[in-house]
Amino acid sequence: MTKRVRLGVNIDHVATIRNARGVSYPDPSRAAIIALEAGADGITAHLREDRRHISDADIANLAAMLRERGRPLNLEMAVTSEMLEIALKHRPLAVCLVPERREERTTEGGLDVAGGHNWIAPFVAKLRDNGSRVSLFIGADPLQIEAASRTGAEVVELHTGAYCDAARDGHEDKAAAILEALKAGARQAASLGLEVHAGHGIDYETVEPIAAIPEVAELNIGHFLIGEAIFTGLAQAVGEMRRRIDAGRAGA
Ligand code: PXP
Repeated sequence: MTKRVRLGVNIDHVATIRNARGVSYPDPSRAAIIALEAGADGITAHLREDRRHISDADIANLAAMLRERGRPLNLEMAVTSEMLEIALKHRPLAVCLVPERREERTTEGGLDVAGGHNWIAPFVAKLRDNGSRVSLFIGADPLQIEAASRTGAEVVELHTGAYCDAARDGHEDKAAAILEALKAGARQAASLGLEVHAGHGIDYETVEPIAAIPEVAELNIGHFLIGEAIFTGLAQAVGEMRRRIDAGRAGA
């Protein structure tokens, strides 16, 4: 079992608030520094094709700032040649390939690696050759996990959105069934030599059962933390999430 679960804080929605006014504040890099000081291990940012939150300049600033501090940037991006060029230029420590549709509010499902193997594998190879660790954001589906292991990616990030929605809506049986699928997916991925991450929709209530999955090495959490920061401050929100991750892992 990985003893300590790393926490990647996704700061996209600091940029969402900034962009609502078209001004220069709040600054995602400032949020990143506070998150790191409060217990985050790394920073995650999704450069979407429509640039609705994080901008190209944010990625340049975050990459430089994190490199200087020796901390990882996890760049989430669609599998497109435009994004590949940007990732090759900034060489983030980690890249997470995600599906992207312009009309979605957030990343709604996992990548179809089984159907898109021939298209995804060359992206993985180019990113790895450039020095980034590549992760594929997928559902906990045996076919997708098996396909991911054949792309050359070192990591899979399992989509926890459906579990978190079911748990929050009080659908206990549904949540329990999805959690079992996540556990089985994590076991399968680890047995294929993949590092296992998890993310999407995680809050204070759902983080402990996910952190308790023994194969999970990293969680990426954004929207809830930035929302919570409005009430308690970002440092307090990150610190409390860190505490709950450790409690979840300790109880595993
Ligand atoms: N992991 C991935 C791959 C994502 O796309 C996102 C959302 O950008 C997250 C984690 C974080 O999800 P949330 O903002 O719901 O915590």
